[in-house]
Order: sequence, then C-alpha cells, then structure tokens
Amino acid sequence: MALSPQWLDELRMRTTLSAVIGRTTRLTKAGREFKACCPFHNEKTPSFYVNDEKGFYHCFGCEAHGDAIRWLTDQRGMPFMDAVKELAAEAGMEVPAPDPRAAERAEKRASLHDVTAAAQEWFVRELATPQGAEARAYLKRRGFSDSVVREFGFGFAPEDRQALKSALSQFDERMLIEAGMRIEVEDKDPYDRFRGRLMLPIQDTRGRVIAFGGRILDSDAYGPKYLNSPDTPLFDKGRTLYNLHRAAPAARQSGRIVVVEGYMDAIALANAGIAEAVAPLGTALTENQIELLWRQVERPILCFDGDNAGQRAAMRAIGRVLPMLRPGHSLSIVRMPAGKDPDDLLKESGVGAMEELLSSPASLLDTLWAFERDAQPLTSPEEKAGLKARLLAHTETIQHDDIRALYRKELLDRFSAFAFPPRAPREFKPRGEWKKGGFNAPPPRLSPETEARLKRAMAGGSRDALAVAVIHGLLRFPDTILSHEAALSRFAASDRNVGPAIDSLIAAAETLDSHAESPISLPGGLPAPPANTYFAFLDKGTDPVDAREDLAEAVSLLVERPALEAALAAATARFETDPEGAFAEQQRLLKRKLEFEARLGKMASRKAAKPANTNSGAEGNQPEGDA
Ligand code: UTP
Ligand code: MN
Repeated sequence: MALSPQWLDELRMRTTLSAVIGRTTRLTKAGREFKACCPFHNEKTPSFYVNDEKGFYHCFGCEAHGDAIRWLTDQRGMPFMDAVKELAAEAGMEVPAPDPRAAERAEKRASLHDVTAAAQEWFVRELATPQGAEARAYLKRRGFSDSVVREFGFGFAPEDRQALKSALSQFDERMLIEAGMRIEVEDKDPYDRFRGRLMLPIQDTRGRVIAFGGRILDSDAYGPKYLNSPDTPLFDKGRTLYNLHRAAPAARQSGRIVVVEGYMDAIALANAGIAEAVAPLGTALTENQIELLWRQVERPILCFDGDNAGQRAAMRAIGRVLPMLRPGHSLSIVRMPAGKDPDDLLKESGVGAMEELLSSPASLLDTLWAFERDAQPLTSPEEKAGLKARLLAHTETIQHDDIRALYRKELLDRFSAFAFPPRAPREFKPRGEWKKGGFNAPPPRLSPETEARLKRAMAGGSRDALAVAVIHGLLRFPDTILSHEAALSRFAASDRNVGPAIDSLIAAAETLDSHAESPISLPGGLPAPPANTYFAFLDKGTDPVDAREDLAEAVSLLVERPALEAALAAATARFETDPEGAFAEQQRLLKRKLEFEARLGKMASRKAAKPANTNSGAEGNQPEGDA
C-alpha cells in the first residue's frame, strides 16, 4: 500500500490542525483547545472544538468529527489525494509513490470518462438528426423547454446494434463494454446497450458523465420503459443521486433539497423553476445517498406517491434512516396525491400546487405514526398490542440514545391516546363513587369492586415491589393519577397481575375532583409494600412536592421495564436469523437495562439519608384514611 497508516499518523502529527482549520474558520482559544461556531451546521453558540494534541475536531452539536484530511475533504470539498498532497507539502513530507495498480485503475477510470463523454456528445448529435425527430417531438410533448433539454443533455440512441461502436471507433471494444455502453453475451457479438431510446446523461458531483438512462419513446416498444447503465468502475447506483451536481448549489441557496422518485420528475421540477431536486436511480434510498443529502441540508424532503406502493416506499426510506438519525438531522415527507408524480402534478395544477405541498411536509415521526396506525384494524387488545409492538420495533432501531427515548415517548403517548381514548368527559360523570368533599367530608373511598381488585392484585401474588409501591403512592396522591394516565394504561395493558387494578383506579380517578388532594382510604388498608424496600414518595417525612416528583419517576420506570424486556426478548428471538445484529442489539439493550436499574437503585438509595425509623415499612406506607 502506498499510504500506510504509519505514514498518515506521521502526517497528522506534523500537522497543526488548528492552523489548517483557522484558515477558513475563526477559532477562539478555549483552554487547551479551540472552539468555533460549527462550520458543518448552523449554530449561534460554539459547539465545535479543535484539539491539536489529538489532531481531531469534534462538534458536539452535529457530531461532525475528523482529522485534517477529513477537514479538507468534507469541509473544503477536496479529493482525498489532493488533501493528502497539500498537507504533506506543508509538513515537508514526501508522498510515497502511488501503488502502480491504483495508478492503473485511476488511468482506466479516466479513460472510461472519455468513453462516456464521447458517447454523450454523440447522443446529443443524434438527437438533432432526422432519426431523432421522434425523440424531439416526445420532448416537446412533455413540455420541456429548449434550455432544459440542452442543460440536461438529452440525446438520442438510434435503433441499431452497432451504431455506437462505429461512432466511437477510437475506443477499444473492451472499454465500451466496461463503460456499460455495449453488452457482451457469451458466444455472440457484443451489441449496443441503448437502442431507439431517448437518452439522459447521469453525472457525478463534478458534472462528469458517468452513466446513462434511456427511455423508450413508444409505450408499445419492446423492453422496459427505462434502461440504466449497469454498475461500472465509474457508476455505483447506490452512491449516486441524479442531478445532485445541479441541485447542490441551488439547495445551499434555498436551504431545501427535494428527493423525487423518477429522474423525469427532477427535470420537470427544474423546468418549472425548482432546481433543487434529485432522484435515486430506480432503487430505494441507500444510507450513502442519505448522507449525501445531509451534506446539503439537515432535513431533505422526500416526495412519495400517495398510493399504497408509494407509502410503502416511504416506510422503506424511514426504516433506512431511523438507525442513522442524529441531532438536527432528519427527513420530512411529502405525500403526493395518489397516482400522481411531481411531473403529473406540475402539468395538471402548476408549480404553485407543488410549492404548496413542499411548504408543509410531514415529519418523519408523523409519517411513521400514521402509517402504523392505519396499517391494521385496531379493535381487539391483540391488535392494539400489535400496533404498540410495531411502534417499539421501529424506535428500537434508533441508535442515538436521546432521539430513541424521545421517539419512544412520543409514539407511546400517541398510542395510549389512540388505543385508550379518554373515558367519558367529566361533565357527564353519571354517578360518582363519592361526592366532592365538603368541609367535613370523609376521605374519598373506592367502590367495593375496585377495592377488591386492588387487594387481589397486591395480595401474595404480586412480588413486584415497584408496582405495589406505585399503587400505594397513587392512593396517597390521587390527584396525580390522571396526569399519569397515558403511562399507567400502557403499563396496565402489559401486566395481567396489577393491570386490572390500575385500570379501575384510573376509572375511579375520573369521577374524583381533580383537586381532591386527600389520600384515598381503603377499609382495612392495603397489604403493605414489601418491608425491605424504601420509596421516598411513601415516606410521610418527604416534602409532598418531592414525593409527587418521585412518584412520577417511579411510574415512568414502571412503564419502561416491560418495553425494555419485550425488546430484549425480540432481540433474543432474532438470534438464529441474524446473530450479529441480534447480538449488537442485545448489548445495547442490556446497557439500557443497567441504566434502568441504576435509576431504580437511585430511588431506593435515598433511604440512607433518612433516619432509620421514618420508614417502618407498613405504617409509613399505609394510606392515612383509616386513621
Ligand atoms: P417512473 O416510471 O415512476 O418514472 O420510474 P417517471 O419519471 O415517472 O417516468 P415517466 O414520467 O413515465 O417518463 C421512476 C424511476 O424508476 C426507474 C427510473 O430511474 C425512473 O426514473 N425505472 C423505472 C427504471 O429503472 N426502469 C423502468 O422500467 C422504470
Ligand atoms: Mn412520470
């Protein structure tokens, strides 16, 4: 290898990173580092740090990270070797002679570029000949202006198996095949790939032609509507976005980039004055393409057909992007009217209609939620549980901890509100289980039924100290029950043991004045929480404000546990089909379980700070009602 890791380390060591970055970005000294407003994303307070000792920069906002070479390639847009050469010249180092094979490959690529460039010129010339009349008429019918036809380089491939070969006779047959222009099948003479088609050059980010797409002119003609070049040393479908070299500068101007499904749509948008549109090349968006988009703007807009196939395609893109989400970066989604692509919409309703759709795209989260909510009927508990499992399966793929937690919370809240809509509004409460407390009113009581449920849930069978403690806490602070309603119903749905009791408690709370702050009493009291546990919210010595906060944390822990366990079980079940993925997932979930347990432990650890006798188990934890 020409550039060994040791040589690159030496180069890094001899380079003062802050000097390289300081040329284009204003740095201020911050201790042993430098800081700046991050040049990779928009911000007002600096979160971009440069560390000369380590030779790395890092942004705590967008997580841009790299060394001097990365800086020059990512920030200044230099090709890798140019960046290395520039740094080496400054460091007084000699760049090792290139690997002869790499040099050969580069030379071959250069000459393949010559092939595609020559082919492009020829296709354009052919479009102007009498043979190209039909293709020219087609372009007119589609409404493309002359300048768009020229700018996008439309051409024509004549209906002839050897025409390109004779037009490009200066190139060796092997090179024509390698550039994807000719097809070679065993035992037969090679022949031209594109015949009788309207031709479109596909260009790289520097505008060089690397491949072609060809469209049939007559829908009855033989073969697929579009034919693309195969992957070649120049062209990698998954790493190319059609029209990016024109859309990128426009996107930097407008702060917007639009992804459409077909390349004709990208051209139609340009024809209508929307220059910042790109298209993948007949495949689902790849991670690499998403990264390319994120280099332009933080929230690219994806347009999909409103029909079922289009919505499934949107979900595929969402599935691809969820694991990649990082702060500030996302996608938004525009749903086109069913059966219409942007080109159709522009023709039928004009650019105003398109701009209107683009001005209010749906968020990734909204799209995900709406898709899963509407995917199946939701009448039985099994179906509701299915929706919840699907939502959690999505959120569990998010690698970024904060984003994952936020998605989970938001989706589960929506799930609860949807699957367990609030019961009858309080104004219509038919028969309260108790009347609103007067001056001397007795403490609120529960119906005998609810009471029996609570006792059953907690008697002997329940070994779950946290759940039991939470029930005690809710009885002690009944005014908090409804504020935890979403979380509590979620837990209730997942726990056969305590679930029914919690459900009736919620129902009871709805008949209770929301400001009723007196504890609920149960004749004969409830079984005490396990004596060896301590929860500050059950301690009469705890300030009521702190106690309510502590109770809220306990409720959230209660809900998180089953979700975590379900995810772990799912990861374990996947071991056979996807051992590597399942293992990584399990490691991640186990780490979160540890964090969960640490939080639980932290709740209990406050005991140490208390005098030992304030929490004498049952007494301190008994609802006060029967005093
Ligand atoms: P569409 O058929 O939606 O393209 O395919 P379009 O742009 O609306 O085509 P027009 O308007 O009929 O001309 C979307 C994309 O899928 C790929 C192409 O990349 C196309 O842009 N495709 C489609 C193929 O590769 N082969 C095909 O036969 C069809
Ligand atoms: Mn179309």
